[in-house]
Amino acid sequence: MKAINEHTITDLAIEQMATTPNPRMRQILESLVRHLHAFTREVDLTPEEWLQGIRFLTAVGQKCTAHRQEFILLSDTLGLSALVNALHDKRASSAATKSSLLGPFYRQDAPMMNLGDSIISKSEGSEVVFYGRVIDSAGRGIPNALIQVWEPDETGNYDLQKHDPSVMDLRGCFRADSEGRYYFRGLCPLGYLIPLDGPVGDMIRAQKRHGYRPAHIHFVIGAPGFRELVTALYVAGDAHIESDTVFGVDASLIISVNKSDRSSPLPNLPSICYDFRLAVAKDQMSGRVGADPSQITGRAAENIA
Ligand code: BEZ
Ligand code: FE
Repeated sequence: MKAINEHTITDLAIEQMATTPNPRMRQILESLVRHLHAFTREVDLTPEEWLQGIRFLTAVGQKCTAHRQEFILLSDTLGLSALVNALHDKRASSAATKSSLLGPFYRQDAPMMNLGDSIISKSEGSEVVFYGRVIDSAGRGIPNALIQVWEPDETGNYDLQKHDPSVMDLRGCFRADSEGRYYFRGLCPLGYLIPLDGPVGDMIRAQKRHGYRPAHIHFVIGAPGFRELVTALYVAGDAHIESDTVFGVDASLIISVNKSDRSSPLPNLPSICYDFRLAVAKDQMSGRVGADPSQITGRAAENIA
């Protein structure tokens, strides 16, 4: 019998998993074991420290509901979501707008609206018009592209964080016109604190991090034959643009608010103009690091098989 000790345990665990029929699952779990064991050796983890880790992960799970996703928040604050996004962008077959975090506040059933409509239904604050085009790698407009948007209110909260999370505000879906043009009205984006009332907040405080995200608005954009784009636009000059708690900002996603824009479809409002570029789809791979929280809690058990 092979002795189980700090030198043999990694190979023993991996050997036992060799029966895993799904090759990709085998590769991922083998590698996970290898890296987890290496990490444990590197920091010389004690039983009390690992128990603390188990308590923390348990609390992360217990904080999750149909309206709250603490695991996405954990992935985001550890930089893991940004890393998965960067690898996803590298696999694109042609030039495209950079991805940014989906975050924990996406909802899949936002109302369909007409171009020019306002996504503001319950909130107050300064209104801006967002406009531009959805284009392909050659700069041609993509007709009918579906544009999903969401943003927080003037207090820095998303509708999902309010007393009645079933009430929607500051989110909507739009269809680009026949030349790929889009425009809609929304709040001028503001910066906000990520939710800090759970175990991830305890971690952020223990690390003495500020917990802010710079002002931004989220987009998921798709069209048949194109790779879905999950991204966000960030407002230039925000105090936390260089130190986003969840590492979502890329220089190419920073925009400025234009106070007098004659080219805007609504020239009396301040405007934010941005063209989104989609890559051609070469696979069915989703770029969403996360999902509507209600979809994750509802389907968690199904996905193990
Ligand atoms: C957000 O932008 O909605 C977000 C992303 C990651 C963590 C918390 C919030
Ligand atoms: Fe956000």
